[in-house]
Amino acid sequence: MSAKPKRVFVKTYGCQMNVYDSERMTDALEAAGYAPVASADAADLVLLNTCHIREKAAEKVYSEVGRLRRLKEQAAADGRQMLIGVAGCVAQAEGEEIVRRASAVDLVIGPQSYQRLPDAVARAASGERVIETDFAIADKFAALDRPHGTRPKRSSAFLTVQEGCDKFCSFCVVPYTRGAEVSRPVDAIVAEAQRLAAEGVREVTLLGQNVNAWHGVGPDGREWSLGHLLVRLSEIPGLDRLRYTTSHPRDMDDALIAAHRDLDTLMPYLHLPVQAGSDRVLAAMNRRHTRADYLRLIDKIKAARPDIAMAGDFIVGFPGETDADFADTLSIVDDVGYASAFSFKYSPRPGTPAAERSQVPEAVKSERLAALQARLNAAQADFNASRVGMVAEVLFEKDGRHPGQIVGRSPWLSPVQVSAPAALIGSIARVTITDVGANSLYGVLADADPVDGKIAAEATA
Ligand code: 5AD
Ligand code: SF4
Repeated sequence: MSAKPKRVFVKTYGCQMNVYDSERMTDALEAAGYAPVASADAADLVLLNTCHIREKAAEKVYSEVGRLRRLKEQAAADGRQMLIGVAGCVAQAEGEEIVRRASAVDLVIGPQSYQRLPDAVARAASGERVIETDFAIADKFAALDRPHGTRPKRSSAFLTVQEGCDKFCSFCVVPYTRGAEVSRPVDAIVAEAQRLAAEGVREVTLLGQNVNAWHGVGPDGREWSLGHLLVRLSEIPGLDRLRYTTSHPRDMDDALIAAHRDLDTLMPYLHLPVQAGSDRVLAAMNRRHTRADYLRLIDKIKAARPDIAMAGDFIVGFPGETDADFADTLSIVDDVGYASAFSFKYSPRPGTPAAERSQVPEAVKSERLAALQARLNAAQADFNASRVGMVAEVLFEKDGRHPGQIVGRSPWLSPVQVSAPAALIGSIARVTITDVGANSLYGVLADADPVDGKIAAEATA
């Protein structure tokens, strides 16, 4: 009789890199005899993969641990051990403080220590309180670089190419929680991309906190930047779509812009946060570019790839932001014409320079956020309306909102809902965009025989 596998439930907060890391942790634990489950209820190990980027993230973790503690006590009463682990950026930022405040936590492990996870879990299971928050990132990439676990088939996947950040924007905790910028080697990235393609993945999104700072030595012995890497990845058969996120304006070099011009596989979408529209605030944020630099850069990118959809991030209520500064943020939205954007109230992060400065009142932040979001929503509505009547290639990912519908992504990353057979999930088909909703586009199949739209399009051209 074989031993019953232990069950692990991983709960993920925050960014796409955490989603990716959770998958890697699950893979590593599967190899160590754990089976992934979808709820904490009967799990033997619950791992919270946490986020520290904004407000109350740590508080959320403590209240979640409070809830889990009851499950843990119940398990103990049933004669069963349940372990609670905290991973991710709150683990890195708070370290031992977590077990001081939440005694139910058995294991604290930061993002640069995941290669030690199976061992750390084994030690926790034997009663040790484990805190792993060292930085040894090269090991992490190497140790987690193994075949994927038993995940359901998917058409789109993330691939981390770079981690950490050296930019030190004055509001941001990332350089402290994820550490200094480290790039993964070319061969490891290519091998993982090939493996994903062999699994049937059609679209890969390269991830990094500052992804366009990625650099590495190519097989030609030269120093490559992200643009060169994208050229190499576009040669992998089966990978029809490439994306990358998130970028810093300072690291958009000519090779990357040329990749947008030259590669059909590189989707016409760019997430390029500006954070604020006023030069005074940009300087106080230590962004190291001006408003004019940013707009000039976008002109250059649009010259290379005219149909590119721009996305951004914004922070309102940064310390010292005046009404006039904020007006500059609103006006840059009009100048760029964003297809989508994320916007946040400034949240002081302990240990970052801006947290020490005099703060904008909460009510002002709220008012500015509402005004900015109205402007961004209008920009998004304009962008979506401009798609109506276009034929777009859509990579179908899953069942849609209503029965009989499936949903996929346009090249510009917008979800597209289409009435079409579920058999098309996993393929790319040409879709005529007919309508726009709040967050999605709607369309109809453009070809009588849409499988696979790309081939059909070529055959009829
Ligand atoms: N307060 C508010 N927003 C922040 N971001 C990062 N740090 C903070 C903070 N302290 C936002 C930025 C970044 C996105 C991931 O989160 O806009 O681009
Ligand atoms: Fe944070 Fe991005 Fe600035 Fe790096 S570039 S410090 S990740 S906001």
